[in-house]
Amino acid sequence: MIRVLFVCLGNICRSPMAEAVFQHLVREADLSQIIESDSAGTGDWHAGESPHYGTRSILAKNNIDYHHLARQIRPDDFEAFDYIITMDETNYADVMSMNQGKARVARLLDFTEDTNVIEVPDPYYTGGFEGVYRLVHAGCAGLLTAIRMEHPTG
Ligand code: 4NP
Repeated sequence: MIRVLFVCLGNICRSPMAEAVFQHLVREADLSQIIESDSAGTGDWHAGESPHYGTRSILAKNNIDYHHLARQIRPDDFEAFDYIITMDETNYADVMSMNQGKARVARLLDFTEDTNVIEVPDPYYTGGFEGVYRLVHAGCAGLLTAIRMEHPTG
């Protein structure tokens, strides 16, 4: 099993959206038996909560079924997951500062062709869930391609 953890700050807007889109792409590729995913936040303020209304709406609009309760990242995630994928530079630095396991830490937008955009902006205060969805979708598609190349039998 290949395990992927998506990480943002609160685990209610961006990382659950990324997890949902990635799972959807994995299902479409018929790889659910091989690739598993989860999401978490660097902070714990929203632990136990469902995704933000903006994330739930955009997923529903794109016919992506998804259920998740927010949780904070924990040290054993670095052993449990093969890839830990962050949304912005703050998440990346926070995750790197606790990284002591096997997981490879990377930025979601490292997997897109547009090298000018490296962060998925935080929509919690300012909205913009449509634009966030487009970035997240591009990143997840690129990530899945990269994983399939690194694990050719998958
Ligand atoms: P997320 O968005 O990191 O994409 O889930 C946020 C959610 C909550 C907060 C900030 C960002 N917050 O400050 O509570």
